[in-house]
Amino acid sequence: MAKDPVRVLVTGAAGQIGYALVPMIARGLMLGPDQPVILHMLDIEPAVEALNGVKMELIDSALPLLKGIVATTDVVEACKGVNIAIMVGGFPRKEGMERKDVMSKNASIYKEQASALEQHAAENCKVLVVANPANTNALILKEFAPSIPEKNVTCLTRLDHNRALGQIAERLGVHVSNVKNVIIWGNHSSAQYPDVNHATVTTSAGEKPVRELTADDNWLSTEFITTVQQRGAAIIKARKLSSALSAASAACDHIHDWVLGTPKGTWVSMGVYSDGSYGIQPGLIYSFPVTCQNGEWSIVQGLKIDDFSREKMKATEKELIEEKELAYSCLK
Ligand code: NAD
Ligand code: LMR
Repeated sequence: MAKDPVRVLVTGAAGQIGYALVPMIARGLMLGPDQPVILHMLDIEPAVEALNGVKMELIDSALPLLKGIVATTDVVEACKGVNIAIMVGGFPRKEGMERKDVMSKNASIYKEQASALEQHAAENCKVLVVANPANTNALILKEFAPSIPEKNVTCLTRLDHNRALGQIAERLGVHVSNVKNVIIWGNHSSAQYPDVNHATVTTSAGEKPVRELTADDNWLSTEFITTVQQRGAAIIKARKLSSALSAASAACDHIHDWVLGTPKGTWVSMGVYSDGSYGIQPGLIYSFPVTCQNGEWSIVQGLKIDDFSREKMKATEKELIEEKELAYSCLK
């Protein structure tokens, strides 16, 4: 029997990530090849023509899984009955800007949209915040939508996770699908900590720790980390626009694994509310290694953390505490 459609909201749908993301969702890459969807697309008045253009292109794509389109500038209409909300709407960082430079614009958007989601989304709606500063926007959304369970509000660090997998694969000359269990700790910013201490590569001789396979251990502790931390800026420099296809692809991966589960023995990175695991301040939206089952994520527990890692995990936590204060001061 055919499944009932799932309503998926994409805010900022007329923007670059939106344009890459909506066809991925409508082709089943996010929720599976047998899951029909109804797309809710929200943007603001100045983008209304472009939004309509995206709707026209979706119609022209004759997509079998796409059972309906709501394209609107009305946040209430956009949020009505949605099961999944992907929050991309906001102002992107330009060359020379840090993520906190977009804070004042985006924090107030997330406060307003928190209320709309709280009042109009379906029960148990899962929320993914993509717009920067992603962790702090998610924190604002969580705090201003107190009736949405805190487990349901997450932010995107899967892009950083995938970037880390990609860098290791390139360095070792292996296929990226054979690399797993990197971790992105903390903030989706240049202070994030990409950790390879538990990462492995599947080889013909079985699973091997990345550290064992990388003769140049120094690379892992230096250039690898800075490359992943600075990748967003490198893309902006190269494209004069921030990453879009890789961000859309990572958003699909994030929701896919959250809803459909992570493979056995594999974890992924998600920005989720901290319950105090690994000594991180409770309540922050911090990126942890998680496994997902039955639509719920759980933080991977018991990983050994060395002094080098601990220091970096604390530095990114400190930045998130500062961002939180800054966001609240912008909202006053
Ligand atoms: P974009 O400017 O191309 O698109 C953003 C869209 O949001 C625009 O169409 C704009 O009109 C719309 N918008 C603005 N205010 C809105 C509001 N109040 N409600 C609904 N829509 C609104 O930007 P983009 O390149 O698509 O990037 C979107 C966001 O994602 C940026 O904040 C960017 O920094 C962030 N980003 C995050 C990651 C990540 O990994 N977390 C990766 C890439 C980009
Ligand atoms: C990215 O990581 O590509 C995005 O967050 C865009 C940015 O501002 O770096």
